[in-house]
Amino acid sequence: MSHSSDAQVDSGSEGRRTVVPGPTFTHATHPAGGLQSSRISGFAKLSVKGRLAALVERGLLQQDDLKLFLSNDGLPLEFAENFIENCVGGFTLPLGLATNFLIDGQELFIPMAVEESSVVAAASHGAKLARSGGGFVSEPTRTVATCQIQVIVPPDFAFAAAYKELEPELFDLAQRCHPKLVARGGGVVGLELRTLSKPGYFVIHVHVDTREAMGANIVNTIAEELGRHVPARLPQARVGLKILTNLTVERLTTVRCEVEPAVLEMAGFRGDEAMERIVEAWEFADLDPFRAATHNKGIMNGIDPVVIATGNDWRAVEAGCHAFASLSGSYKPLTKWAINARGKLEGTLTAPIAVGTVGGVTRLHPAVSRALGILGQPNSERLSAIAAAVGLAQNLSALRALACEGIQRGHMALHEKNIEMMRRYDHLPPLAPVQVEPGAAPGDV
Ligand code: MEV
Repeated sequence: MSHSSDAQVDSGSEGRRTVVPGPTFTHATHPAGGLQSSRISGFAKLSVKGRLAALVERGLLQQDDLKLFLSNDGLPLEFAENFIENCVGGFTLPLGLATNFLIDGQELFIPMAVEESSVVAAASHGAKLARSGGGFVSEPTRTVATCQIQVIVPPDFAFAAAYKELEPELFDLAQRCHPKLVARGGGVVGLELRTLSKPGYFVIHVHVDTREAMGANIVNTIAEELGRHVPARLPQARVGLKILTNLTVERLTTVRCEVEPAVLEMAGFRGDEAMERIVEAWEFADLDPFRAATHNKGIMNGIDPVVIATGNDWRAVEAGCHAFASLSGSYKPLTKWAINARGKLEGTLTAPIAVGTVGGVTRLHPAVSRALGILGQPNSERLSAIAAAVGLAQNLSALRALACEGIQRGHMALHEKNIEMMRRYDHLPPLAPVQVEPGAAPGDV
């Protein structure tokens, strides 16, 4: 698959629209018939070159891609400079590959961009445990983004009735904002009026099927258009904010897995004992927001690195997941673990994971484009299921370790390399002096 120079960086409200010199990427996609297995024995023990060779061998990367990875230059400066303002360089995170994933019958290696040791290992291990029950299964996700239009009216004005009459007109107007999206099968799927607890305070929600895009720009355009229209038609109404919500409850992703108790055996605990302890560990999170915060942090250890490696907005996903965890009025775990009727451990994760596979930097960032290639060029629904499966795998691995022997032994073994480096680089090696161009002044931005 190749993408040509049609992609643009749109940095939004200040109208700075920059076209990046047109790269043509040739991506590897999954070999015909899919990847045969995401289990590679001894993968962790290979050198970086050896791991990359294993990917080339399986048709997941092309020989040319090796230069990009081996030079550790996933993002050339001319791209970085166009992505953000006041750019002074790039900032690299390690890119790892989680193994053992089987999601809806598809074998997958999962690219994860993360700095924390033991995260990639824990995801791979959780995925291995989940294979005992056939891997992960996802439910269909609607690719619906939602924007909000804040409306303030005098407390005695019957806004709800006036809105009801206006709604069909608003729907049509919103639909006309993105004719190409409608042609692709997306577009407005519904409007909703919410009443806030202060008299005269309302919010209009517009739900839009944004197809393969995360959808922020799409819904923000609609919000602003409707925001102009409402006071034009109802002079009593004043419009405040017009912006998407990251709490995308119309775009929830659910994945499940079933685990054979026998594979959970650990540190002197039989499999069935470990299983019960995992359920108790989950109950702890369900009953106590202090534990739920850490429980969910472990889940985000799985989700965020996938969101980052695929060029998506991880702050949006984080905000959405934590808001969703609080929706009942008390902060709750994003997963549920229980022993099912078949006597097996069943895990479920439901979360709003609004990610896209077009738009933003997804087609521009060279390392991101390779990561999407390794994942077999998923659409946005599939990508959210993949991220959710990694979150569930991570949680399974963490709960099993915590409930049985504690995480420090395993964690510290993996962290040992970092400790060794800290010893070695107790004092950072001095950097070569930098020549500053004459005339450049601090704060000159
Ligand atoms: C560490 O990054 C994540 C854990 O604390 C998650 C958890 O406690 O469930 C191990």
